[in-house]
Amino acid sequence: MEATEIAAVRAALIQWYLENRRGLPWRETTDPYGIWVSEVMLQQTRVDTVIPYYRRFMARFPTAAHLAAADLQEVLKLWEGLGYYARARNLHQAAQSVATDHGGLLPDDPGAFRKLKGVGEYIAAAVMSIAFGRPHAVVDGNVKRVLARLFLVEAPVNGRDANPVFEKAARSLLDTADPGRSNQAMMELGALVCRPRKPLCGACPVSRFCRAYLTGQVEAYPVRVRKPPVPTRAMAAGVIHKDGKILITQIPPEGLLGGLWEFPGGAVENGEDARAACIRHILDRTGLSVAGCRHLGRVRHAYSHFKVVVDLFDCRWRSGAVRLNGPADFRWIGLAELARYPLPKTHHKFMPLLQQDA
Ligand code: ADE
Repeated sequence: MEATEIAAVRAALIQWYLENRRGLPWRETTDPYGIWVSEVMLQQTRVDTVIPYYRRFMARFPTAAHLAAADLQEVLKLWEGLGYYARARNLHQAAQSVATDHGGLLPDDPGAFRKLKGVGEYIAAAVMSIAFGRPHAVVDGNVKRVLARLFLVEAPVNGRDANPVFEKAARSLLDTADPGRSNQAMMELGALVCRPRKPLCGACPVSRFCRAYLTGQVEAYPVRVRKPPVPTRAMAAGVIHKDGKILITQIPPEGLLGGLWEFPGGAVENGEDARAACIRHILDRTGLSVAGCRHLGRVRHAYSHFKVVVDLFDCRWRSGAVRLNGPADFRWIGLAELARYPLPKTHHKFMPLLQQDA
């Protein structure tokens, strides 16, 4: 596109944004910390889902110092259900660096900000532009879709080499007079108008410039490479009863659900009976020998890169004291206390099975 056309696209986007932007809680603040929290939540989660989490989080941790001083378990509990828990662990750790190394204030220098735990390309560009007006162009899924259609970008959005192409295109459209507004205009257009399916081209402020629209192939963009379907993992887990209590174990901090609590269990091998797998994993991971193991039910959950199907069993403690092999910690708790712990989605799906049994 020619420079004059690019300038016209930029102007039309900003005008449209000023007239159509949603009133979102993080748009009512200029506090860099609040903007940072919002972008960390928004990076992998939809706006509608984020809003109540954001409000609760900011009410409980209004400053980086509050977050830094908090117990990680409480942070995870407030994050429960948002997924991608590494975001919460990293944010907590980064807030501690902000409190100790930056006097409680978010660094406005991109180099210093990038050093904080969990701050990658996207978060840095979003926070630097929105909070500090620095000229960094944001590239997320919504932005890529807008750019792919506008410029007919052939590089697959989920391909390995796509980012430089999209970053260059995004930079060309950035309005340096107000980079935060400019980035949010692109994201907002992607969310409200330039939707993945059934885009509202009739309401689009830049359709007259859009190469995909002008050539009648909007839904063919962005181009994607086909990925194999995500695998399904079979799991088995047990609710172990002993003296009126049940056992929960804590997932070690590194993994997908790190820091959350669960009923002990593990993968069901090919051809293995789920009950046998449950008993085997409990012995291996907790040192406990269990009996009974009545099938309570089965739940399914889809994560981004795999699906799980979990069979849950109701087990009786038979012998042994807890000796952990794998889990980070354990608690014997009353069933009513379960809700105080941050739990994976699968365990929320277990709840009706447990109550039915109680
Ligand atoms: N998605 C990511 N960041 C956003 C923002 N600031 N506003 C709306 N949607 C977003």
